Amino acid sequence: MEGVGASLATGIPASLFYVVMRIAPPQFRSRMWKWLYQRMANSQIDSDFRFMNYGFDESPLAAPLLKEGDEPNRLFIQLYNMNIRDTELQGKSVLEVGSGRGGGASWIAKTMHPETLVAVDYSGKAVRLCSKWYSNQKNLIFQEGNAERLPFESNIFDVVYNVESSHCYANIPAFLSEVHRVLKPEGKFCWTDLRDRKSMDNLHGQFLEAGFNIDSNSEITENVVSALDKIDRDRRKMIRDRAPASLRKSFETFGGVPGTPIYEALKSGRISYFRYRLTRQ
Ligand SMILES: C[S@@+](CC[C@H](N)C(=O)[O-])C[C@H]1O[C@@H](n2cnc3c(N)ncnc32)[C@H](O)[C@@H]1O
Repeated sequence: MEGVGASLATGIPASLFYVVMRIAPPQFRSRMWKWLYQRMANSQIDSDFRFMNYGFDESPLAAPLLKEGDEPNRLFIQLYNMNIRDTELQGKSVLEVGSGRGGGASWIAKTMHPETLVAVDYSGKAVRLCSKWYSNQKNLIFQEGNAERLPFESNIFDVVYNVESSHCYANIPAFLSEVHRVLKPEGKFCWTDLRDRKSMDNLHGQFLEAGFNIDSNSEITENVVSALDKIDRDRRKMIRDRAPASLRKSFETFGGVPGTPIYEALKSGRISYFRYRLTRQ
């Protein structure tokens, strides 16, 4: 991994990095993502930066009411809200897998009033930052853990949700089997992420094989691309101001900045953004 880090730090072109990430074996890709997110947690200790997703744009009529302090993060919060809004969380035991910098978990814990929300990420550095930033939220706990080996007993959560994280995982069947194991029978699993069509067809089958019923599914690419267009200027500025120079292009690519490969693939339909709501059998 150090070798990969070194080549990135010496300026591997972002488009090549993107291609490598698409064709590399899953274990390698997963380690590379981990390196990238640890690096981000190390270099970005600014507590204003609390979301790492592409956002979700929607009509103001459907959008959630937000407190003034949450308005700057509206589009990122809307992606979280879209993923869980048809699922009861009040008084429930809830797990987020791949919680990143904790903005989504924090918003859900204070807005939807779960009894407890445990937020897991495999970047120990991000988990330590979140534990500090959100220490005043008593129903919210951050914990280090791998989506493919969740550090919990079986049958303990009412709801598991997952936002723009599973594309990083090396072993999707292992992840789904773990979500199924930690959920109570009839528990809900709310998933959203991007995939190309073929991978999504495959994943649809994997959801069923893992023992989930599909309650609903939809494609939300247009809402995500529209959010990326709106976020564009601020995201470029943030990356320019804060990211190490050697990583700027890679952060722009993985941040979905217009003109970079992931944005263009979303825009042209080569990859799409999906949402599934599932029930554990
Ligand atoms: C694009 S970020 C999204 C973070 C957050 N959900 C959000 O919307 O802001 C993906 C997150 O998934 C985490 N992640 C990737 N692979 C993981 C794994 N195997 N287990 C747990 N977390 C993982 C990364 O560390 C990162 O925080």
